[in-house]
Amino acid sequence: MSEETDHHFIRAAGIDGPLETLRGKQIAVSKLRNPPAQVMARYCFRPWEAEDAPIYQRMLDDAELWRYMPEVYPGEITTELAGTLIELSRQVSHHKVRAVEYQGRVIGQMRMQWKTDVTPPQSGEISYWLGRDYWGLGLAAPMIGLFSWRCFSIFPALSMIMARVHRENIASQRVLERLGWARVGVDGDWQEFQMQRQQGIDWASLNKPATLPG
Ligand SMILES: CC(C)(COP(=O)(O)OP(=O)(O)OC[C@H]1O[C@@H](n2cnc3c(N)ncnc32)[C@H](O)[C@@H]1OP(=O)(O)O)[C@@H](O)C(=O)NCCC(=O)NCCS
Repeated sequence: MSEETDHHFIRAAGIDGPLETLRGKQIAVSKLRNPPAQVMARYCFRPWEAEDAPIYQRMLDDAELWRYMPEVYPGEITTELAGTLIELSRQVSHHKVRAVEYQGRVIGQMRMQWKTDVTPPQSGEISYWLGRDYWGLGLAAPMIGLFSWRCFSIFPALSMIMARVHRENIASQRVLERLGWARVGVDGDWQEFQMQRQQGIDWASLNKPATLPG
Protein backbone atom coordinates (compact mmCIF):
# COMPACT_ATOMS: atom_id res chain seq x y z
CA MET A 1 0.00 0.00 0.00
CA SER A 2 1.52 3.30 -1.05
CA GLU A 3 1.87 6.37 1.15
CA GLU A 4 -0.59 8.14 -1.08
CA THR A 5 -3.13 5.39 -0.40
CA ASP A 6 -2.32 5.63 3.31
CA HIS A 7 -3.21 9.30 3.31
CA HIS A 8 -6.38 8.61 1.39
CA PHE A 9 -7.50 6.04 3.96
CA ILE A 10 -6.58 8.19 6.91
CA ARG A 11 -8.64 11.01 5.50
CA ALA A 12 -11.50 8.66 4.71
CA ALA A 13 -11.50 6.51 7.83
CA GLY A 14 -10.19 8.77 10.54
CA ILE A 15 -12.53 11.69 10.52
CA ASP A 16 -16.03 11.33 9.18
CA GLY A 17 -16.48 8.08 7.34
CA PRO A 18 -18.15 5.51 9.55
CA LEU A 19 -18.68 3.24 6.56
CA GLU A 20 -16.07 1.76 4.23
CA THR A 21 -16.58 -0.48 1.24
CA LEU A 22 -14.40 -3.55 1.11
CA ARG A 23 -14.77 -5.94 -1.80
CA GLY A 24 -18.21 -4.57 -2.41
CA LYS A 25 -19.38 -5.03 1.20
CA GLN A 26 -20.07 -2.10 3.43
CA ILE A 27 -18.60 -2.55 6.87
CA ALA A 28 -19.09 -0.40 9.91
CA VAL A 29 -15.98 1.36 11.15
CA SER A 30 -16.07 2.42 14.76
CA LYS A 31 -14.90 5.96 15.08
CA LEU A 32 -11.37 6.25 16.41
CA ARG A 33 -10.27 9.02 18.72
CA ASN A 34 -7.88 11.09 16.67
CA PRO A 35 -4.55 12.21 18.10
CA PRO A 36 -4.10 15.93 18.72
CA ALA A 37 -2.77 17.79 15.69
CA GLN A 38 0.41 18.82 17.57
CA VAL A 39 1.31 15.20 18.30
CA MET A 40 0.63 14.15 14.71
CA ALA A 41 2.65 17.04 13.32
CA ARG A 42 5.81 15.99 15.18
CA TYR A 43 5.99 12.48 13.74
CA CYS A 44 6.15 11.29 10.15
CA PHE A 45 5.92 7.62 9.06
CA ARG A 46 7.30 6.88 5.64
CA PRO A 47 8.88 3.99 3.74
CA TRP A 48 12.66 3.66 3.99
CA GLU A 49 14.45 4.93 0.88
CA ALA A 50 17.75 3.69 -0.58
CA GLU A 51 19.29 7.07 0.35
CA ASP A 52 18.59 6.30 4.03
CA ALA A 53 21.14 3.44 4.03
CA PRO A 54 23.93 5.38 5.85
CA ILE A 55 21.68 6.61 8.68
CA TYR A 56 19.90 3.24 8.89
CA GLN A 57 23.28 1.52 9.10
CA ARG A 58 24.54 3.90 11.82
CA MET A 59 21.49 3.30 13.99
CA LEU A 60 21.18 -0.46 13.48
CA ASP A 61 24.87 -1.35 13.75
CA ASP A 62 24.51 -1.46 17.53
CA ALA A 63 24.35 -4.81 19.35
CA GLU A 64 22.71 -3.12 22.35
CA LEU A 65 19.78 -2.01 20.19
CA TRP A 66 19.19 -5.62 19.15
CA ARG A 67 19.49 -7.01 22.67
CA TYR A 68 15.76 -7.41 23.23
CA MET A 69 14.53 -7.41 19.64
CA PRO A 70 12.53 -10.47 18.51
CA GLU A 71 15.01 -10.80 15.61
CA VAL A 72 18.57 -11.98 16.27
CA TYR A 73 21.42 -9.47 15.82
CA PRO A 74 22.83 -10.34 12.40
CA GLY A 75 26.35 -9.08 13.30
CA GLU A 76 28.05 -6.05 11.81
CA ILE A 77 25.65 -4.09 9.65
CA THR A 78 27.46 -2.78 6.60
CA THR A 79 26.01 -0.08 4.37
CA GLU A 80 25.47 -2.83 1.79
CA LEU A 81 23.46 -4.96 4.26
CA ALA A 82 21.56 -1.82 5.30
CA GLY A 83 20.62 -1.34 1.62
CA THR A 84 19.39 -4.95 1.39
CA LEU A 85 17.35 -4.62 4.60
CA ILE A 86 15.80 -1.43 3.26
CA GLU A 87 14.85 -3.22 0.06
CA LEU A 88 13.25 -6.04 2.09
CA SER A 89 11.39 -3.51 4.22
CA ARG A 90 9.78 -2.14 1.07
CA GLN A 91 8.10 -5.44 0.20
CA VAL A 92 4.49 -4.85 1.08
CA SER A 93 2.82 -8.26 1.04
CA HIS A 94 3.38 -9.49 4.60
CA HIS A 95 4.40 -6.41 6.50
CA LYS A 96 4.32 -2.66 6.68
CA VAL A 97 7.60 -1.02 7.66
CA ARG A 98 7.96 2.69 8.24
CA ALA A 99 10.93 4.89 8.99
CA VAL A 100 9.92 7.26 11.76
CA GLU A 101 10.87 10.92 11.67
CA TYR A 102 10.53 13.22 14.63
CA GLN A 103 10.53 16.90 13.69
CA GLY A 104 12.17 15.98 10.39
CA ARG A 105 14.91 13.75 11.83
CA VAL A 106 14.92 9.97 11.36
CA ILE A 107 14.80 8.43 14.84
CA GLY A 108 13.78 4.79 14.34
CA GLN A 109 11.38 2.31 12.84
CA MET A 110 7.91 0.85 13.28
CA ARG A 111 6.95 -2.46 11.70
CA MET A 112 3.62 -4.24 11.43
CA GLN A 113 3.70 -7.94 10.61
CA TRP A 114 0.29 -9.07 9.41
CA LYS A 115 -0.95 -12.13 11.27
CA THR A 116 -3.49 -13.30 8.79
CA ASP A 117 -3.27 -14.23 5.16
CA VAL A 118 -6.70 -12.81 4.49
CA THR A 119 -7.27 -9.40 2.99
CA PRO A 120 -8.04 -7.07 4.63
CA PRO A 121 -5.84 -7.92 7.66
CA GLN A 122 -7.61 -8.55 10.97
CA SER A 123 -4.65 -8.75 13.33
CA GLY A 124 -0.96 -8.04 13.32
CA GLU A 125 2.13 -7.81 15.48
CA ILE A 126 4.18 -4.66 15.83
CA SER A 127 7.84 -4.26 16.60
CA TYR A 128 9.79 -1.05 16.94
CA TRP A 129 13.14 0.49 17.68
CA LEU A 130 14.71 3.88 18.22
CA GLY A 131 18.33 4.75 17.46
CA ARG A 132 20.31 4.80 20.69
CA ASP A 133 20.67 8.63 20.64
CA TYR A 134 16.90 8.82 21.06
CA TRP A 135 16.37 6.50 24.00
CA GLY A 136 15.07 7.85 27.29
CA LEU A 137 13.36 10.91 25.75
CA GLY A 138 9.80 9.62 25.92
CA LEU A 139 9.61 9.33 22.11
CA ALA A 140 8.47 5.69 21.91
CA ALA A 141 5.00 6.02 23.46
CA PRO A 142 3.65 8.65 21.02
CA MET A 143 5.43 6.87 18.15
CA ILE A 144 3.75 3.52 18.92
CA GLY A 145 0.43 5.17 19.76
CA LEU A 146 0.36 7.06 16.44
CA PHE A 147 1.45 4.06 14.39
CA SER A 148 -1.22 1.84 15.97
CA TRP A 149 -3.89 4.49 15.46
CA ARG A 150 -2.73 4.90 11.88
CA CYS A 151 -3.00 1.14 11.22
CA PHE A 152 -6.48 0.96 12.75
CA SER A 153 -7.47 3.96 10.59
CA ILE A 154 -6.10 2.59 7.36
CA PHE A 155 -7.32 -0.98 7.88
CA PRO A 156 -10.93 -0.90 9.07
CA ALA A 157 -11.08 -4.68 9.58
CA LEU A 158 -8.03 -4.68 11.87
CA SER A 159 -9.40 -5.53 15.30
CA MET A 160 -6.30 -6.29 17.39
CA ILE A 161 -2.58 -5.56 17.43
CA MET A 162 -0.14 -7.59 19.50
CA ALA A 163 3.46 -7.08 20.61
CA ARG A 164 6.02 -9.39 22.19
CA VAL A 165 8.45 -7.81 24.63
CA HIS A 166 11.41 -9.54 26.26
CA ARG A 167 10.83 -9.98 29.98
CA GLU A 168 13.95 -7.92 30.76
CA ASN A 169 13.00 -5.06 28.45
CA ILE A 170 11.40 -2.96 31.16
CA ALA A 171 11.46 0.29 29.17
CA SER A 172 9.46 -1.27 26.33
CA GLN A 173 6.98 -2.84 28.77
CA ARG A 174 6.53 0.53 30.50
CA VAL A 175 5.84 2.20 27.16
CA LEU A 176 3.10 -0.29 26.21
CA GLU A 177 1.53 -0.10 29.67
CA ARG A 178 1.49 3.67 29.43
CA LEU A 179 -0.46 3.28 26.18
CA GLY A 180 -3.00 0.98 27.82
CA TRP A 181 -1.89 -2.27 26.19
CA ALA A 182 -2.95 -5.38 28.14
CA ARG A 183 -0.61 -8.17 29.22
CA VAL A 184 -2.22 -11.28 27.78
CA GLY A 185 0.32 -14.07 28.24
CA VAL A 186 3.90 -15.23 28.49
CA ASP A 187 5.75 -17.32 25.90
CA GLY A 188 9.15 -18.28 27.31
CA ASP A 189 11.14 -15.05 27.70
CA TRP A 190 8.48 -13.04 25.92
CA GLN A 191 5.66 -11.09 27.52
CA GLU A 192 2.73 -10.79 25.14
CA PHE A 193 0.71 -7.57 24.95
CA GLN A 194 -2.43 -6.69 23.03
CA MET A 195 -4.31 -3.60 22.03
CA GLN A 196 -7.90 -3.82 20.79
CA ARG A 197 -9.30 -1.53 18.15
CA GLN A 198 -11.98 -0.08 20.42
CA GLN A 199 -9.48 0.81 23.14
CA GLY A 200 -8.86 4.51 23.54
CA ILE A 201 -5.46 6.16 23.90
CA ASP A 202 -4.89 8.91 26.45
CA TRP A 203 -3.45 11.34 23.92
CA ALA A 204 -3.20 14.17 26.45
CA SER A 205 -0.47 12.24 28.28
CA LEU A 206 1.53 11.92 25.05
CA ASN A 207 1.59 15.57 24.11
CA LYS A 208 4.90 16.57 25.69
CA PRO A 209 7.48 17.60 23.06
CA ALA A 210 11.00 16.17 23.31
CA THR A 211 14.27 17.96 22.65
CA LEU A 212 16.51 15.90 20.41
CA PRO A 213 20.26 15.75 21.16
CA GLY A 214 22.72 17.69 18.99
C1 LIG B 1 12.52 0.16 24.21
C2 LIG B 1 12.45 1.55 23.61
C3 LIG B 1 11.51 1.53 22.43
C4 LIG B 1 11.91 2.49 24.71
O1 LIG B 1 11.68 3.77 24.16
P1 LIG B 1 12.08 5.12 24.94
O2 LIG B 1 11.46 6.26 24.21
O3 LIG B 1 13.54 5.12 25.13
O4 LIG B 1 11.32 4.92 26.30
P2 LIG B 1 11.06 6.01 27.42
O5 LIG B 1 12.15 7.01 27.46
O6 LIG B 1 9.68 6.56 27.25
O7 LIG B 1 11.10 5.11 28.72
C5 LIG B 1 10.05 4.25 29.00
C6 LIG B 1 9.88 4.07 30.50
O8 LIG B 1 10.75 3.02 30.92
C7 LIG B 1 11.52 3.48 32.02
N1 LIG B 1 12.80 2.78 31.92
C8 LIG B 1 13.76 2.92 31.00
N2 LIG B 1 14.75 2.05 31.23
C9 LIG B 1 14.40 1.34 32.34
C10 LIG B 1 15.01 0.30 33.10
N3 LIG B 1 16.17 -0.21 32.73
N4 LIG B 1 14.35 -0.16 34.19
C11 LIG B 1 13.15 0.35 34.54
N5 LIG B 1 12.52 1.33 33.86
C12 LIG B 1 13.14 1.82 32.78
C13 LIG B 1 11.61 4.99 31.83
O9 LIG B 1 11.89 5.64 33.04
C14 LIG B 1 10.20 5.27 31.36
O10 LIG B 1 9.30 5.24 32.46
P3 LIG B 1 8.02 6.23 32.55
O11 LIG B 1 7.09 5.81 31.45
O12 LIG B 1 7.47 5.97 33.89
O13 LIG B 1 8.54 7.63 32.35
C15 LIG B 1 13.84 2.05 23.14
O14 LIG B 1 14.70 2.11 24.25
C16 LIG B 1 14.48 1.16 22.08
O15 LIG B 1 14.23 1.38 20.90
N6 LIG B 1 15.29 0.17 22.49
C17 LIG B 1 15.98 -0.72 21.54
C18 LIG B 1 15.07 -1.62 20.71
C19 LIG B 1 13.99 -2.31 21.52
O16 LIG B 1 14.24 -2.84 22.59
N7 LIG B 1 12.78 -2.30 20.96
C20 LIG B 1 11.64 -2.91 21.58
C21 LIG B 1 11.49 -4.33 21.18
S1 LIG B 1 9.97 -4.98 21.88
